[in-house]
Amino acid sequence: MKGVILDAVKDLIVDNFGLEKWMDILENAGLPRTAVFSVRDDVPDETVLKVVKSISNTLNLSPEEVADAFGEYWASIYTPKVYKPYYRGIQSAKELLLKMNEIHRKVTENIPNAHPPVFKYRWEGSNVLIMKYISPRGLVEIFMGVLKGVGKFFKTTLEIERISQDEVRIEFKE
Ligand code: HEM
Repeated sequence: MKGVILDAVKDLIVDNFGLEKWMDILENAGLPRTAVFSVRDDVPDETVLKVVKSISNTLNLSPEEVADAFGEYWASIYTPKVYKPYYRGIQSAKELLLKMNEIHRKVTENIPNAHPPVFKYRWEGSNVLIMKYISPRGLVEIFMGVLKGVGKFFKTTLEIERISQDEVRIEFKE
């Protein structure tokens, strides 16, 4: 996974809990306390998962709480700041979600070894969207956390429900 994910995780932890806690988390994950992940590094998925697990142990949060906190931070604070150009002209949560395959493709096209998820869309009426998540990583909890963050960023209520192994039902309450 790209280092950018861990860079965002670090910002989230440092903003909310301070640098010492972040260093404790790295140490509990078996990494050097001063480990640095640069945006373009290729970080093994295993390392990302170790850090996520360590956050959950160190801060006493459930894996679902970690996924929600990360997803919210990623979609409502980190990407609007770091990837601002991709938000240009996008007015709603619905528009952003429908552009996700294009955005992931553009963001990762020059990065070797990036494998962003792919989404398939199915509408059940004009305000109910089923998104199918396709990725060998199986990070559906993170996907759902990011969806919550997208709703927060656009100040829209989204009702999000997992309806199968890889499908999430999103109701736009606009
Ligand atoms: C402008 C906004 C966004 C940018 C720039 C972005 C970028 C990225 C990048 C660079 C990765 C790592 C890919 C890799 O290392 O192979 C990633 C992973 C991921 N993204 Fe996004 N993303 C954005 C928004 C979203 C949204 C809105 C969703 C969900 C609806 C989403 C879902 C995911 C998930 C679940 C992963 C984890 C990797 C996986 O499941 O295989 N992202 N994204």
